Amino acid sequence: MNLAGKDLVSIRDLTKEEIFFILRKADEMLPFASGKKKTRALEGKILATLFFEPSTRTKMSFETAMHRLGGDVIGFSEPAMTSIKKGETLADTVKIVDSYSDIIVIRHSMEGAARLAAEFADSPVINAGDGAGRHPTQCLLDLFTIMKEKKKIEGLKVALVGDLRYGRTVHSLAYALALLGAELVFVSPESLKMPKEIVNDCRELGAEPRSLTNLERAIKDVDVIYVTRIQKERFPDPTEYKKVVGSYKIDMDLLRHAKDDVIVMHPLPRVNEIDPEVDRTKHALYFRQAFYGVPVRMALLSLLLGVDVR
Ligand code: NCD
Repeated sequence: MNLAGKDLVSIRDLTKEEIFFILRKADEMLPFASGKKKTRALEGKILATLFFEPSTRTKMSFETAMHRLGGDVIGFSEPAMTSIKKGETLADTVKIVDSYSDIIVIRHSMEGAARLAAEFADSPVINAGDGAGRHPTQCLLDLFTIMKEKKKIEGLKVALVGDLRYGRTVHSLAYALALLGAELVFVSPESLKMPKEIVNDCRELGAEPRSLTNLERAIKDVDVIYVTRIQKERFPDPTEYKKVVGSYKIDMDLLRHAKDDVIVMHPLPRVNEIDPEVDRTKHALYFRQAFYGVPVRMALLSLLLGVDVR
């Protein structure tokens, strides 16, 4: 399988086989990701990170991934300090950065920004989140976390909880889980339901997602609880945000209603969706999940750059 030169704008750009191929590669990256083994496989290669929106994990795990592979990183996370402030278009910025680097990672508040960047760049472009659109690399690391913990995806029952309307991670994940044969339960306030197009895509893939508002009932027999933050910054009306903030909270009381081996995941940052008491339990997977961003992004960088890591 050859992914060299490809863009990753949406998880839909990948087949089932390609997804599993990347996850297997990520597994091989684990000893390099933790620093136990060393490699200079991407020496001389440059990753450009264009962050038009805040990021901690995505940006730093891409940087860590590139450094662990022996490559270099350039980029910005303060667009106000670049020529964009002077009115340069995204297309021009991308064309220039393309000539400085070998692979580009972009996060932007506008849906479709990564697709546009991919059109203007010759190098591979990776979408690190486009508005309320998609977040395919988060999706891959979410799938990797589930595989590591549960050894399979097909047949698992997964509850996606919280802001399913504006949360880009769940947009990508719902599609991928349906593609890989998981059973889906969507849990959200009425006003933050999963967009119809995504529900329809899941149906076309053979999944019959259930939509619920009651968290306690929804999690009874699930294997994975995937919690998301209410995406405050995407609400056109702050009073609408106030109505739904704090809708769901995962705490010890709630977990008594769940299976003994349920895992709790969260793309992070959390605000108040998970009680810190849960952190110490065997259910809490979110910190390991964040670490898995490194091996998964190492796998992606090396595969899209067409370099074998040994
Ligand atoms: C998510 C994002 O940016 O969409 N964060 C991340 O990449 N881990 C989730 C969020 O911001 O709530």
